[in-house]
Amino acid sequence: MIGIFDSGVGGMTVARAVEEVLPERSIIYFGDVARTPYGSKSPTTISHYSRQNCDFLLSKGAKIIIVACNTAASVAGHHLQQEYDVPIMEVISPAVAQAVQASVSGRIGVIGTRATINSNIYEREICALNPAARVFSQPCPLLVPLVEEGWLAKRETAMILRRYLHPLRSHGVDTLVLGCTHYPLLSHMIKPRMGRQVKVIDSSLAVAHELKKYLTDHPSLAESLAKDGERHYYVSDITEAAMSTASRIFGRKMNLELVQIAQ
Ligand code: DGL
Repeated sequence: MIGIFDSGVGGMTVARAVEEVLPERSIIYFGDVARTPYGSKSPTTISHYSRQNCDFLLSKGAKIIIVACNTAASVAGHHLQQEYDVPIMEVISPAVAQAVQASVSGRIGVIGTRATINSNIYEREICALNPAARVFSQPCPLLVPLVEEGWLAKRETAMILRRYLHPLRSHGVDTLVLGCTHYPLLSHMIKPRMGRQVKVIDSSLAVAHELKKYLTDHPSLAESLAKDGERHYYVSDITEAAMSTASRIFGRKMNLELVQIAQ
């Protein structure tokens, strides 16, 4: 099984990409809907939740884990990679690689949760690939709750986005990284506000392709993964908003399975 987790339904944008790129592989997803959002919590709490999520996925037979949450990856990704025996992939490096390649001026904007932006991980990784780059970061703490609520086309969401994106526009970025797996659900509102000349980076497909390559390079791991297309989408709480957002992401009615994660 390929294990994927996020603080809620946003990471399903990554799971959908994995379904698309590796349709025969079995997937187990966990969305911590009961405890979302992670982005405004402390690094200690985010790390604790992330370990619990990995333990759950492993208990269900995951042989490789994708941390489909920038917040968990930025705070705990490195520790998880050291602590667990299975390969742990994340969503930040593929987004950084895409952004550095896409940007002509080297002026790159990053939006993410408070925890992701405070970790400075995007700035460090972008500058490691292009030392001449200028990174402009904007925490957007209200966006994850709006997505979890399904407010994907409301006037209030548009107003909040305008407020968050204005400084990045003023800095003249030519590339904007969606540094949170919830944000692709708002890209139809983000793109027009940034202008056509700004490239908007969503790493979900890049992550799925990186996973495919990893499996090609590691045939014994690939061999050990079931190829029966079985899928389980677990959540720690089933809400109406989570169900409708999940169905919107996949374009089909989703059967979310409830699971309690130990506190
Ligand atoms: N999808 C998560 C991310 O990529 C959202 C984190 C949160 O719950 O705040 O950062």
